[in-house]
Amino acid sequence: MAKKRNIIVGQSGGPTSVINSSLAGVYKNAIERGFDKVYGMLHGIQGLLDEQYIDLSTQIHSELDIELLKRTPSAFLGSCRFKLPEIHEDKAIYEKIFEILNRLDIDAFIYIGGNDSMDTIKKLSDYAILTGQKQKFLGVPKTIDNDLWGTDMTFGFQSAVDIATQTIDCIHTTAASHNRVFIVELMGHKVGWVTLHAGIAGGADIILIPEIPYDLKHVISAIQRRNEQGKHFTILAVAEGAISKEDAKLTKKQYKAKLAKRKHSTVGYELASQIEKATGLEVRVTIPGHTQRGGSPVPFDRVISSRLGVAAAELIAKEDYGKMLIMKGYDVATLPLEKTAGKLKYVSPDDQIVLQAKHLGISFGD
Ligand code: F6P
Repeated sequence: MAKKRNIIVGQSGGPTSVINSSLAGVYKNAIERGFDKVYGMLHGIQGLLDEQYIDLSTQIHSELDIELLKRTPSAFLGSCRFKLPEIHEDKAIYEKIFEILNRLDIDAFIYIGGNDSMDTIKKLSDYAILTGQKQKFLGVPKTIDNDLWGTDMTFGFQSAVDIATQTIDCIHTTAASHNRVFIVELMGHKVGWVTLHAGIAGGADIILIPEIPYDLKHVISAIQRRNEQGKHFTILAVAEGAISKEDAKLTKKQYKAKLAKRKHSTVGYELASQIEKATGLEVRVTIPGHTQRGGSPVPFDRVISSRLGVAAAELIAKEDYGKMLIMKGYDVATLPLEKTAGKLKYVSPDDQIVLQAKHLGISFGD
């Protein structure tokens, strides 16, 4: 009798519009490769701890169901933002997780998520090795931020850039009828890839991202220069984590305290108030927010998400574990979990794309 082999899959972190294509890829290929059961954690590791999981064969009955799953935006299994403690900080939580995994006779644990998710499976993998558990682990990178170190692309990113760019495009059409400044504040607390790409694609005049702290005086003079050239509107693409040069010099604690006292709810509104005061121009703020994680995924993301899901199932079939799947250019490859777990891939001021944006006449306020 062939050895019974079961998989459990979870989704975590900020879902993207295409996160289920990889889930569909894993499920379809695992069943085709003879796995007995594919369980889905409901709401990631946090749900698993509450014994919230389903046998996916009770939900997915046909090829059509798989096709529909691929196109269902947002996380079919629900998501969570739960960072596992270090093993030495709370061994009991690991004992509980592995008690459940052993009760379900799980051989492979696949987690679809961003940095915190890769950190989670690195910790679980370390615990399994330390305590001789049979479970093996694989990470499938997903985040709209494209900030996972080690992979050239994460699925969800292009779809988010598409929505962010459409927002800037729509602002363009109304901006021309007013002598105003428009701020489009986009997602990206720590990393500015979405804002950088959407800003260039949407023709923003100024792009402010967390990795390139801005000097307000330079932002103001860029706006005034445009006015002097007879261009009576300016569009700024601003990442929600954009920061001034002076604030970038503060410690994390000092900056957090300053934010707590900030009069305006976001950096976009703070900048709007400062620009109005300095220039006398009217400023309007648009924040597409979580719409950047929804909607219909762009074809590029559907393709890489499905490919990563298939590749995950192939690795499991070959029992090639302890890795995160990555995109190297347009090819799927792998990286050992310990190399990437939790590391961020930042924009560098020296990146070719930043220098080329500057040659396009875009100001980064630096
Ligand atoms: O990590 C993806 C992301 O969308 C970030 O770009 C954004 O800052 C964050 O999640 C928002 O988190 P939440 O959905 O918990 O508000």
